[in-house]
Amino acid sequence: MSIEAQNLNVYIKDNHILKDVNIRLPEKQITCIIGPSGCGKSTLLRTFNRLIDSTEGVKIEGKVLVDGQDIIHSGAEITELRRKIGLVSQRPCPLPMSIFGNVAYGCRINRMFKKRKQLIYHVQKNLRDVGLLDEIKGRMHTPAARLSIGQQQRLCLARSLAVQPEYILADEATSALDPISSKTVEDLFVSLKERYTIIMVTHTLRQALRIADNVVFMYLGQVIEAGPAQQVFNHPQEELTQKYLAGAFS
Ligand SMILES: Nc1ncnc2c1ncn2[C@@H]1O[C@H](COP(=O)(O)OP(=O)(O)O)[C@@H](O)[C@H]1O
Ligand SMILES: [Mg+2]
Repeated sequence: MSIEAQNLNVYIKDNHILKDVNIRLPEKQITCIIGPSGCGKSTLLRTFNRLIDSTEGVKIEGKVLVDGQDIIHSGAEITELRRKIGLVSQRPCPLPMSIFGNVAYGCRINRMFKKRKQLIYHVQKNLRDVGLLDEIKGRMHTPAARLSIGQQQRLCLARSLAVQPEYILADEATSALDPISSKTVEDLFVSLKERYTIIMVTHTLRQALRIADNVVFMYLGQVIEAGPAQQVFNHPQEELTQKYLAGAFS
């Protein structure tokens, strides 16, 4: 079980955005993707669940293997791929429906339960897992938009988790949150890594230092260095990584 990119190149119109990326992301760990703004972190994440397909003028070369299957060229089923690989984006984007409806949505699409009772139980479980169940007591059927931003982000995470993914991609998932919500969501990811393979684009180096098991450092569309967090942070091999860690560019 892993996500692996082999000679991956992504072009958007005439721009070469990802350049010959070769990485393998270990399972049941947190991998943090770091690097300066515009280096291709989001593009890489969006390639992993093929959200990149919706970008106009995109061309993909090379392979992305998810559990050994090439998802770019094998005619992988997109709905199933996105169930298996959930994405939490930078800004929470709850669906315009109730709290319950948000978490139930994917379960319904994937026909996970025959009985409503099972669905209700499952929704409650997932809300509990993200620490929301007690907070929203009695408000399960009120609009999700009424939650605070931090609560909305946890709701979006619950929505992703409810369809029982194997991988969770998070793109600067705490950057829009206040410090307390941010810490809550960050802790949540750490608690989830026993069950899921988590790939996070982190917006601060400090966050990566706190939670990463593995680190991928990108610069101008290339993976410069990747490996266990201890190694990359304490003994970076590449000069560019050393400079980045020293704060030479952000
Ligand atoms: N839809 C798009 N059209 C054209 N260029 C894009 C598009 N999306 C991203 N890019 C370019 O790709 C590069 C990498 O972007 P991105 O993956 O968002 O970087 P990061 O997440 O590291 O900040 C940037 O130069 C950006 O301008
Ligand atoms: Mg980005």
